[in-house]
Amino acid sequence: MSVHSQGQRVTVPQLMACKGESKIAALTAYIAPIARLLDEALDMILVGDSTAMVGYGLPDTLSITAQTMAAHAAAVVRATHHACIIVDMPFGSYQQSPQQAFASAAEMLAASGVSGVKLEGGRAMAETTHFLVERGIPVLAHVGLMPQYVNTMGGFKAQGMNEAAARRIVEDAQAHAQAGAFGVVLEGIGEPLAREITACVDIPTIGIGASPHCDGQILVTEDILGLSGERIPKFARRFADAGALIREAAGQYAKEVREGTFPSLDHCFGVRQV
Ligand code: KIV
Repeated sequence: MSVHSQGQRVTVPQLMACKGESKIAALTAYIAPIARLLDEALDMILVGDSTAMVGYGLPDTLSITAQTMAAHAAAVVRATHHACIIVDMPFGSYQQSPQQAFASAAEMLAASGVSGVKLEGGRAMAETTHFLVERGIPVLAHVGLMPQYVNTMGGFKAQGMNEAAARRIVEDAQAHAQAGAFGVVLEGIGEPLAREITACVDIPTIGIGASPHCDGQILVTEDILGLSGERIPKFARRFADAGALIREAAGQYAKEVREGTFPSLDHCFGVRQV
């Protein structure tokens, strides 16, 4: 059960108040049935653009649109009543200017009812964070390994592995904190760096592959449920094997259909007794 269990949806200020008090537990969800199952346990659900890869089988997150993200976010909001729901701003919907970011974020908020947006980017995006926050849109920043930068990073690999790169990530996180972000996702960075950033910003850090020192953790739900194939990232753990359950249920269903034992008369309308 989440620490916020008064029967109302967790708010962005409540997430901010977790800093130094309690760990934030967050996962991703893209569709209603999964969101419904996660809701009570979590403080925050992210409708991540990772759905491009996890849900649509694309090689990266770059081609998903704001309309598609808004549709997923609306489904997750409708299916939940407890966790704070945040949606990812997809690639191309915010990088051009703060004004473009506001228009995209406002459209996604209006279409879905989420409580805020997440955007990737270092210091260069802090001005955009400030612009959105000043206009009433809570922003969760995302620094370190930023999947939307896959082409400039040359792949999905841990970041900040030398001193100069580590300094840049510290400055990125600080810039977003100063700009008014309510939290910052730290992805794919070393343990000492995550510890340092968590100590030097006054907003919650939410780690994914960034050590236990963060103020909260987030993972891709499919990775912890055995729904993303055999290989899972080094930083994730399989907490359940829902994949095996689904495969077994599908096999049993197919067997009974072929044997003619499903459906039985219990599953029929207007059964005539003979
Ligand atoms: O898109 C996503 O799911 C994310 C999280 C994994 C942080 O950005």
